[in-house]
Amino acid sequence: MPVDTTSALLSWYAVDKRALPWRASGSETADPYRVWLSEIMLQQTTVAAVKPYFAAFTARWPTVEALAEADEAAVMSAWAGLGYYARARNLIACARTVVREHGGEFPGDEAALLKLPGVGAYTAAAIAAIAFGRRAVVVDGNVERVVARLFAVSEPMPGAKPKLRALMDRLTPERDAGDFAQAMMDLGATICTPRSPDCGRCPVASGCAARAEGRPEAYPVKAPKTAKPQREWTGYWLRRGGEVLLVRRPPRGLLGGMLALPVEPPAVAEWREVGAIDHVFTHFALTMTVLSAEGDAEGEWWPVERIAEAGLPTVFAKAAAVAAAA
Ligand code: ADE
Repeated sequence: MPVDTTSALLSWYAVDKRALPWRASGSETADPYRVWLSEIMLQQTTVAAVKPYFAAFTARWPTVEALAEADEAAVMSAWAGLGYYARARNLIACARTVVREHGGEFPGDEAALLKLPGVGAYTAAAIAAIAFGRRAVVVDGNVERVVARLFAVSEPMPGAKPKLRALMDRLTPERDAGDFAQAMMDLGATICTPRSPDCGRCPVASGCAARAEGRPEAYPVKAPKTAKPQREWTGYWLRRGGEVLLVRRPPRGLLGGMLALPVEPPAVAEWREVGAIDHVFTHFALTMTVLSAEGDAEGEWWPVERIAEAGLPTVFAKAAAVAAAA
């Protein structure tokens, strides 16, 4: 007889859940600020990458009030390296909205959470369930994969999304929806992994349709991939003695608001090619040719030997490393 998937997962989670710094321990309830911050950081980003950033942010800005008062440039540079920088801009806007419109307390229901900057359907459901104990249907990529396997959903992604959500809704209990969502996410991250699911360790293997078919890794079924477009940029490393010119990118768009190397010539100079780097963004792959010269221009001049502290996004940190070594 198949196990009751929901209760089997809750029992497994009670014993085997990952100890993560934003999770409450024992009987204390999770702090909505820490749940919100972690859920924003975890979008498109692994737990391992998030941990040091979460520790640094909560040490520096321990409450939503503290973050609301923070200097925007300080938050942007503390975020440097995590990627998807719109999240950092929305983070500040959201903290300020919570303080201004909600007296510094996160609202507990999904509809009110959805109105906050940077909080979409996934994040609103996650905060409502995890921090406030509400019943909410939490669906991220891990959850989609686990559900697609449990029910052997043969429709390809992304078209299968509504069906996967409806199935997750059926599985989600009235109580403990937050624990249940996190159990599904932990299962997806540690056992029901994309390429090599470890069904021998899975608490719900006996109720899994994909496992019964013998091909769990075939789910979720993917539509054929189209190749990422390839773009070419030039990064300019303008030196003035021991300093290098940095510019702040325009507030909207790719890497908006972040410090960067200029990608247009900042000065007439004897530019020399010193190397190239590759970087993959969500929607395109980039090759950046790096040019170097001595000269002068308007902008922020940064000491070359302290370039690691400038808070450059990864693509420019790579280019800076090539130029500094040339
Ligand atoms: N990924 C995103 N949010 C998560 C959470 N609360 N637990 C585990 N993995 C997650």
